[in-house]
Amino acid sequence: MPLTTAAATTTVNAATTTAGGVLAARRTAELGDRVRVCGLYDALGAPLYHDLATYDDPETRALLTAVRTTPGPLLDLAAGSGRFTLPLLATGREVTALDLSTDMLALLRTQLDRAPASMRARCTVVQGDMSRFDLGRSFPHILLGTTSLSLLDEDGRAALYRSVLAHLAEGGRFLLTVLERGDADGPDETVVRATGAGGTVYELYEHWPAGADSRTVTLFPADPPQDDSPVTVCTDRVAVLDLPRLEEELAASGLTVTSRRLLSPPDERHRVTLLTTEASR
Ligand SMILES: C[S@@+](CC[C@H](N)C(=O)[O-])C[C@H]1O[C@@H](n2cnc3c(N)ncnc32)[C@H](O)[C@@H]1O
Repeated sequence: MPLTTAAATTTVNAATTTAGGVLAARRTAELGDRVRVCGLYDALGAPLYHDLATYDDPETRALLTAVRTTPGPLLDLAAGSGRFTLPLLATGREVTALDLSTDMLALLRTQLDRAPASMRARCTVVQGDMSRFDLGRSFPHILLGTTSLSLLDEDGRAALYRSVLAHLAEGGRFLLTVLERGDADGPDETVVRATGAGGTVYELYEHWPAGADSRTVTLFPADPPQDDSPVTVCTDRVAVLDLPRLEEELAASGLTVTSRRLLSPPDERHRVTLLTTEASR
């Protein structure tokens, strides 16, 4: 799930919002002690995240197209439950899928178990930290999609770039996506409804004041049962990276940006850019 849905159904502009947003706090208070707060990628959150995963979206298509330029194995970093891994495998590529979360990787393994044996055989699943991995091999393409770079702090990003450079084949490319706010005048907080693959309807709250260095995403079931049963609420606060500064950081780390491709309309709240980088000469 890119967690970057566009159409807002409820919005609020308030200088006085709490860190996670007024609307999310109000909804949490309404549910009271039924709430079970979890992260987006842990045992409770991972199945909900996976339920909302989208496969035929501009980012997946752009990554599939980008890797066509060079044959060979692919490294999918922060692969999660396989939003990119599975479509890449379906095109006949060999893919190493690396992620930190046991729960997200369990969902990927379940999907692989259901996939044709030939596809499964081309996938290597690795539990590891994208900022310090040692796979003992190189790749013509390394991918870090879903704007997951923002999950790392500055030291983590520096370590990630070192690990990436150590695994890039000669002339190889590191592809990553970055999220910015495209609607400078938009609301601080939005709520959208989204239906998961299993039919569950969710409400996705996002608190992201323009110019803020982080945003908070909170996911509720839209229609929790009318009883006292627990309600799982997933929340995560993620950094927002400044694109020009990030490009400087990449250059200083030995990665040259060779192309920038906007994957969404420029004035959309979730403006996603695909960066292609290569080892600096
Ligand atoms: C936004 S999700 C993207 C998952 C998948 N690429 C997708 O599009 O659905 C971010 C993923 O990064 C993983 N992650 C977070 N920190 C990580 C780290 N330090 N190393 C590897 N994976 C990490 C999480 O477990 C999660 O699966």
